[in-house]
Amino acid sequence: MSRIVHLNGAFLPEQEAKVSIFDRGYYFGDGVYEVTAVVDGKLVDYAPHMERLDRSLRELSMPWPCTKDELRAVHEELAKRNGITEGLIYMQVTRGVAERDFAFPKNIPSTLMAFTQVKALVDSPNAKTGVKVVSIPDIRWKRRDIKSIALLAQCMGKQQASEAGAFEGWMVEDGFVTEGTSSSSYIVKEGRVITRPLSNAILPGITRKSLMKLAADHDVTIEERLFSVDEAIAADEAFLTSASSFVMPVVEIDGHPIGSAKPGPITTRLRQIYLESARA
Ligand code: PDD
Repeated sequence: MSRIVHLNGAFLPEQEAKVSIFDRGYYFGDGVYEVTAVVDGKLVDYAPHMERLDRSLRELSMPWPCTKDELRAVHEELAKRNGITEGLIYMQVTRGVAERDFAFPKNIPSTLMAFTQVKALVDSPNAKTGVKVVSIPDIRWKRRDIKSIALLAQCMGKQQASEAGAFEGWMVEDGFVTEGTSSSSYIVKEGRVITRPLSNAILPGITRKSLMKLAADHDVTIEERLFSVDEAIAADEAFLTSASSFVMPVVEIDGHPIGSAKPGPITTRLRQIYLESARA
């Protein structure tokens, strides 16, 4: 059975959803996106994802493609029509269809597209063993706080990681880890969780935001500061977060084991706390 996807107000079989070759998303990467998890048929952290979408759109002077209620209904309807109880909903807004010209065209309707992906998020085999990461240079642009669909640097980074047998690439700039190609990065040392502070250098992760609040509620200290790859190698534990991995233990960096090379106790507890909150 083919997926039902969403395009500009219509729910269609995926083969029938077609976009013009003159869409600016296609030839400029002129668009923004969000990925929201679904667990037990319910959207996880939906409100903050939409707050971040609102910010990305404003930073690029792009209008909302529909009302906020309509976009929520699109997410719920897609999950329902595709019978998604666990997985992801990807949505993107591109500036729309226009003759190729670098400056933003005026008053054109944006293009809204969304689709579902089935994925085992809670009982993920990777979460049981932990994953490997490799460090790679951060070659991205300087507005990484905007969730742009232009992800070529991240695709190249993930490919490099994958060829090295790793799950993720941790990008490094000026000697410090920025973030993963599609996730936020953390280390744990002497009971404290360390993660890079928010700035234009990284995407403000929604899982990060929720986890920081949950950690505070459960008396786990999260310190926001820069850390290097050497510090990560010497850490007791490491993990990454994203809507598609939740809290994922990292057990090896550049071939060096982290701590016991098994998911650590603080990481395991934070994953548990996050999952409980996602399912609540
Ligand atoms: N990526 N940093 C980057 C560069 C990301 O692409 C992502 C998410 C994150 C984590 O953000 P969040 O917790 O809001 O998912 C951090 C998504 C999952 C993706 O592109 O598929």
